[in-house]
Amino acid sequence: MENFTFYNPTKLIFGKDQLEQLKQEIPQYGKNVLLVYGGGSIKKNGLYDKVVSVINETGASVFELSGVEPNPRLTTAEKGIDICKTENIDFILAVGGGSVIDCTKLIAAGAKYDGEAWDLVTKKAAAEEALPFGTVLTLAATGSEMNAGSVITNLETQEKYGWGSPATFPKFSILDPQNTFTVPQDQTVYGIVDMMSHLFEQYFHNTSNTPVQDRLIEGVLKTVIETGPKLVDDLENYELRETILYSGTLALNGMLQMGYRGDWASHNIEHAVSAVYDIPHAGGLAILFPNWMKHNLEVNESRFKQMAVRVFEVDPEGKSDKEIGLEGIERLRTFWSSIGAPIRLADYDISDEKIEVMADKAMINGEFGNFKSLHKEDVMEILTASL
Ligand code: NZQ
Ligand code: ZN
Repeated sequence: MENFTFYNPTKLIFGKDQLEQLKQEIPQYGKNVLLVYGGGSIKKNGLYDKVVSVINETGASVFELSGVEPNPRLTTAEKGIDICKTENIDFILAVGGGSVIDCTKLIAAGAKYDGEAWDLVTKKAAAEEALPFGTVLTLAATGSEMNAGSVITNLETQEKYGWGSPATFPKFSILDPQNTFTVPQDQTVYGIVDMMSHLFEQYFHNTSNTPVQDRLIEGVLKTVIETGPKLVDDLENYELRETILYSGTLALNGMLQMGYRGDWASHNIEHAVSAVYDIPHAGGLAILFPNWMKHNLEVNESRFKQMAVRVFEVDPEGKSDKEIGLEGIERLRTFWSSIGAPIRLADYDISDEKIEVMADKAMINGEFGNFKSLHKEDVMEILTASL
């Protein structure tokens, strides 16, 4: 293992009917609350009314920013920052999926920063402070509810980057599996692919002696593989929603990434793809990740073998490490497509036309990837294999 410091101050409030806890949480932070949400799913399923009524009971004044897009836009965060500055907002409550939470993180940090919000995303400036914010999560996927990361899209320049700082952890997150019942089948599948991808990004590293971390990641992966297909056929099953919701948080709250650095190259390439084509994040990952794996199989065949045998139960008898690893990768691809995830960029009508544009965007900060450092040719090969 490498030396590490673990820091995660987010209070996690998990379980049935926990919304009432807003009454204890919000008054700790002030009177003027900005409620941030997406395109209307919380109005349709009734969560909006419940949240507003609980906030009203605290005596706080509620201001609103609605319409946060999937792949949240810089311009929407800027609107929220304006509201914070003009209305003296004390606290922000994000009610939604990863996009709403990520947008809220930029609003919270932007409200305390005098320059352009994009400077924080491009890391021209560090987010040293932020308004306090909490979340009510409605979609199991990103882990944003219990990490400091945020991914923001600048449509004008077709750029999408991840950023974050110790100031952008939520103060608390309320996770009630019932609030995820209305997530449609396709978004449920995307959530499963995203959390599995976070687990794979962490699993592929070259640090020695990480047996606890390996087994923890394999355990969450196996659980998601067992639970995911059942959930896709039974969207309002409390226990299945509960398992997937907890898995998504655990997959990216830092608990599994102690003592080594994950790879994160597939996420970097995917962000370049969705910056240009605005496709769902996990749709891109389902296509790209197996091709990243094939491309890097030879970097550490025994690691791929371990994944194939322990997670996908590939029979190793009479096969080379490479053959076992390849079989594991194929099982992953088959699993994702069996629950309805896309396989090729062509599924989103993406041709080879802008392959180089996407590769250049992925390379903006130079080589990347900790398991294997990727150059432009590597990215081009992975994208071409994904067409
Ligand atoms: O906007 P509304 O109407 O709420 O609808 C959303 C949206 O259309 C809908 N939805 C959410 N909860 C629902 C629901 N529909 C019905 N019932 C519910 N309970 O689902 C759609 C997708 O929502 P979104 O928030 O975009 O999905 P997700 O949570 O997958 O977030 C994706 C974004 O997170 C970024 C991605 O790049 C992408 O921009 N990521 C953030 C990370 C982080 N902060 O740590 C890490 C990830 O790797 C990822 O990059
Ligand atoms: Zn992701």
